[in-house]
Amino acid sequence: MEVLTVCGSLRPVSANGAALAVVEAALVVAGVRWRRFDGFGAVAPFDAGLADDAPGPTQRWLDEVNGAAALAVAAPEYAGSLAGVTKNALDWLVGTAAVYEKPVLIVSAGTTGGRFAREELLRTLTWQGAFVVAEVGVPAEGLKADPEGRLSVPETVEALQAAADELVAALSESNERRAERREAVQARLARGLSGA
Ligand SMILES: Cc1cc2nc3c(=O)[nH]c(=O)nc-3n(C[C@H](O)[C@H](O)[C@H](O)COP(=O)(O)O)c2cc1C
Repeated sequence: MEVLTVCGSLRPVSANGAALAVVEAALVVAGVRWRRFDGFGAVAPFDAGLADDAPGPTQRWLDEVNGAAALAVAAPEYAGSLAGVTKNALDWLVGTAAVYEKPVLIVSAGTTGGRFAREELLRTLTWQGAFVVAEVGVPAEGLKADPEGRLSVPETVEALQAAADELVAALSESNERRAERREAVQARLARGLSGA
């Protein structure tokens, strides 16, 4: 069983990459294998006409998602919305069932904690049939790091570890519990940002 950790930033030194590293370490502690995908720069602009014949690097993205049991996606917020490269990559999943009924953890790290980016992630992944089981926003003040670049604010580390534990628990939960989660997420989406 493998979790695909997905970094939605193209920067080599990235707040979202640092947040994912905490999630990955927690997965190791829980005995769950993970793989990192950070190749959104090579995923082609989405073309619905190529949905059945994706270019090579894009097909690699689709294969990685297909092969994973669960996803942990961390992406920046730009100009009040989800980073475009992340939305573009998620658009390629429409119609593939690649995330259908898979548990997903969503994170946005950056200035405000990415409330709008997380809402976009929640909406687009839920519409594709994923179960979003945990969500963490990490604002600038939660992003202090040690000299090796590891996040060091205890509240941040604990929140990311707890979310990773939720993802691990969701890998083996009942269909009834999954249905409850889906209803809760859909109710939240129906409330919109005012109820977030
Ligand atoms: C053009 C631009 C727009 C941004 N817009 C937002 C924003 O709307 N909300 C926010 O919280 N942060 C915003 N930021 C800050 C990013 O969230 C921050 O740089 C974050 O660290 C980027 O993620 P990364 O470190 O993983 O690359 C913006 C940054 C840039 C460069």
